[in-house]
Amino acid sequence: MKAFHFKSLPSTNDKAMELAQQSASELPEFSYVVAEEQTNGRGRNGNSWSSAPAVGLYMSMILRPTLPLEYIPQLTLVAGVAICEALQTLPQKGGAAKIGLKWPNDILINERKVAGILCEASLQGDSATIIVGIGINISATREQLPSRVIYPATSLMLEGIEADPATLAEQVAEVLRQRIQQFYKSREIASDWKQYDLLNGTSIKVQTPDIGLVEGIASGITPTGELLVLDPATNICHTITAGSIVRE
Ligand code: BTN
Repeated sequence: MKAFHFKSLPSTNDKAMELAQQSASELPEFSYVVAEEQTNGRGRNGNSWSSAPAVGLYMSMILRPTLPLEYIPQLTLVAGVAICEALQTLPQKGGAAKIGLKWPNDILINERKVAGILCEASLQGDSATIIVGIGINISATREQLPSRVIYPATSLMLEGIEADPATLAEQVAEVLRQRIQQFYKSREIASDWKQYDLLNGTSIKVQTPDIGLVEGIASGITPTGELLVLDPATNICHTITAGSIVRE
């Protein structure tokens, strides 16, 4: 696992993809890129990711999974579980912070978003390079955080958790490597995801690219990582492969 550190990058995801493609033969899987700031940090759905210097962790890990393609979307879920596990080991001031996941890629503390995951893929024949991009708000103040429509953003510091960016990068990279290697063997993440699932049992609205807006009660995920939403009026359970939670 090689680590590449940069003071400033447009996006660690772009740099990681560039390195993965330039030096495919000598660069070991699980190598990762960290930047102190990003000038063009990206989130999901074309959003930007606020990436000011020294207040967050911006990192991207290179994966070369030898998995059938249908397992690739679950790597986002594996990364979410790994980040929760890494955050849970950090010392907390005061009461226990509630750390959990919102399908498919948000990490929340005390119901506020503290971290996000952006996985990007490049397919060459039947082999894939996957970049797992991770952004964690470490010491941003409320004023430095973006305002969010669905639920507010927070940082570890605001939730009473102290972390040093360099140490956190190493911890996240190590837990992520272990979790991904375990997933390559077991091809199963749903049972661990359930322990952190914050949506389960709540009323949600999900915007999907294929069947439009789906409303209902979040009812966990399938063994292969799709979100289940039960419409109580019709008793139909929708299986959502791709989508964004627009409201709870
Ligand atoms: C999201 O919640 O929308 C995903 C946010 C992902 C942000 C990280 S920061 C490191 C990596 N580089 C990027 O440009 N994006 C990801």
